[in-house]
Amino acid sequence: MSTRTATGLHGPGLTDVRMMCVAHTSFRRELKLAVPAVRAVRPGDIPRANEIADHVVLWLGLVHHHHSIEDELLWDRLTERVPDELAPLVQLMEEQHASVDQLMGSCPDLLTTWRSTAAAADGSKLADHLAELVAALCEHLDAEETRVLPLMAQHIRPEEWEQFAERGMESIPKGMLLTGFGMMLYEGDREVLAIEIAKLPAPLRPVLPVLGRRAFRKYARRVHGTATPTPGLP
Ligand SMILES: [Fe+2]
Repeated sequence: MSTRTATGLHGPGLTDVRMMCVAHTSFRRELKLAVPAVRAVRPGDIPRANEIADHVVLWLGLVHHHHSIEDELLWDRLTERVPDELAPLVQLMEEQHASVDQLMGSCPDLLTTWRSTAAAADGSKLADHLAELVAALCEHLDAEETRVLPLMAQHIRPEEWEQFAERGMESIPKGMLLTGFGMMLYEGDREVLAIEIAKLPAPLRPVLPVLGRRAFRKYARRVHGTATPTPGLP
């Protein structure tokens, strides 16, 4: 699977923040794919609508948690350390988070309606809204990766980054951990993922990637209809 080359995000004297891109790529892929997945549900097929709605809820929850811990753990520290350079960017990040949050705020009602009717009109309304949300989210993720991540690599300490990464993992439901790992392995930067795998206890290193990939293939077949869904790289 292809990888995205990140520059200025690791190296001597820098904190390796490339896992952010790996997480973002999963967000892009799974939420972009949610739009056609909603549209593909046959009108009246309530069980299938609920299956796809669960997928949307899972990913909206992961993005919401991701933004919350960025707000809590990263932005203030960056502002303190590089105020002049970062002030306009922090403002941009906060504005973009607010736009995405606002769009996410309308999703529960749309999802609840569609779950109960699986009507074509309700599905179409939800899919249109998700498409708008995905566009806003991708604009934000692109800006964060190109403009803010290099600053994080310079000014966020490794232990602070590890805290952020650990909090990020907490948002994955326990029963979804293997699938979540497989979702990152699917198209994440192999070098970056090898570093993460090396942090695992030795007996798990050869096992978890295999199980994670298998779990993702099973999930992707069920939700997207293929074990090899369209990549979400920008
Ligand atoms: Fe992020």
